[in-house]
Amino acid sequence: MTEIQAGTGAAGVAAPDQVPAIELDGVVKEYVSHGEVVQAVKGVSLAIGEGEFFSLLGPSGCGKTTSMRMIAGFEEPTRGVVRLHGQDVTNVPPNKRDVNMVFQSYALFPHMNVWDNVAFGLKRKKVSDDEVRSRVGEMLEIVDLVGREKRRPREMSGGQQQRVALARALVNRPRALLLDEPLGALDLKLRQHMQIELKRIQREVGITFVYVTHDQSEALTMSDRIAVMNDGLVEQLAGPREIYERPATKFVAGFIGTSNLLSGVVRAMNGASAVLALGPEDRVVVPIKGSATEGDTVELTVRPEKITISTEQPEGDLSMVEGTVSEVVYLGTYNSYAVALAGGAEITVFQQNAHDSTTTAERGDTVWLSWQPQHSYALQ
Ligand SMILES: Nc1ncnc2c1ncn2[C@@H]1O[C@H](COP(=O)(O)OP(=O)(O)OP(=O)(O)O)[C@@H](O)[C@H]1O
Ligand SMILES: [Mg+2]
Repeated sequence: MTEIQAGTGAAGVAAPDQVPAIELDGVVKEYVSHGEVVQAVKGVSLAIGEGEFFSLLGPSGCGKTTSMRMIAGFEEPTRGVVRLHGQDVTNVPPNKRDVNMVFQSYALFPHMNVWDNVAFGLKRKKVSDDEVRSRVGEMLEIVDLVGREKRRPREMSGGQQQRVALARALVNRPRALLLDEPLGALDLKLRQHMQIELKRIQREVGITFVYVTHDQSEALTMSDRIAVMNDGLVEQLAGPREIYERPATKFVAGFIGTSNLLSGVVRAMNGASAVLALGPEDRVVVPIKGSATEGDTVELTVRPEKITISTEQPEGDLSMVEGTVSEVVYLGTYNSYAVALAGGAEITVFQQNAHDSTTTAERGDTVWLSWQPQHSYALQ
């Protein structure tokens, strides 16, 4: 299981009444490909705060890179407005925007050593030798590459090369850094290490990071806020904890972590909660944001780790359903159970292997699954 940490709301994140660092306002991007119109981005509006670590998360082809390229100015929107620090930059070329982009293939200059790679942009801008020396030195310290100045890119690991690429972008002191799947080429262990490094570097330099990834655990660990994209649209924009615990749509629930989807007909409304009819002995209560009436079908989600499995019918004000264990997988610190319900749904349950845990359900056992109603959410 991924350990989820809520966005820290790190120091430096703009208060809501401040002018956003980056804004997309009703942005649409259409391409014409072989005579057909492809809508890569179908209408995205979002505002990113100064100093925020903001992620665009979604499956391949959902429009992440296209959105990012419009922020950087490599692509002009078909409709809508891009603003940086309150200024309309929709038609401003990339080199006139105060943002830098780091791509997945970070393309260091192979014939130049680390120092020269980082210093390249400053030298081209005719920054004085003294200032180049101090700024490159400071940057190499931040990315922890002091002592490697003379190395060529091919003489370094993937993670080290990635840090050179970061230093090369950050040395220009952009107000925002755009990172498009920057860790995609690294193996898992190095990627996890670099995630922590990136977060530390962002805190240290205090600039806005916009991060593109299709890896949900990466977005959840690093971001202050996440926009989950699907098919050219933002499905949910919220902090990591909310995205994980209160997915707003079926797509988000399915895309982020393992989640269980159940559906039932509303038997009665009880204040802001719906009482659903599932199996005869089942009792499922779910908080509803909008309105629902008797007879409506409601879909709800509940995370595997919020569910308790027991062989006896539990007591108390819990939601509970009865089912049959179809699979038990031992996963070290926890067990994963698959439980089939009478209606055909299959529910996944994670149960910690605490030494005082008494449940040892096995394949074929009839069991009760229960959870606090507030740990389940109705989907839109
Ligand atoms: N120049 C182009 N011409 C035509 N279609 C394009 C062009 N660029 C992107 N697209 C299409 O727009 C959609 C969004 O592409 P985009 O590159 O933004 O996706 P992505 O979310 O970055 O995906 P990935 O995770 O695979 O990088 C895709 O369907 C893609 O095929
Ligand atoms: Mg992409």
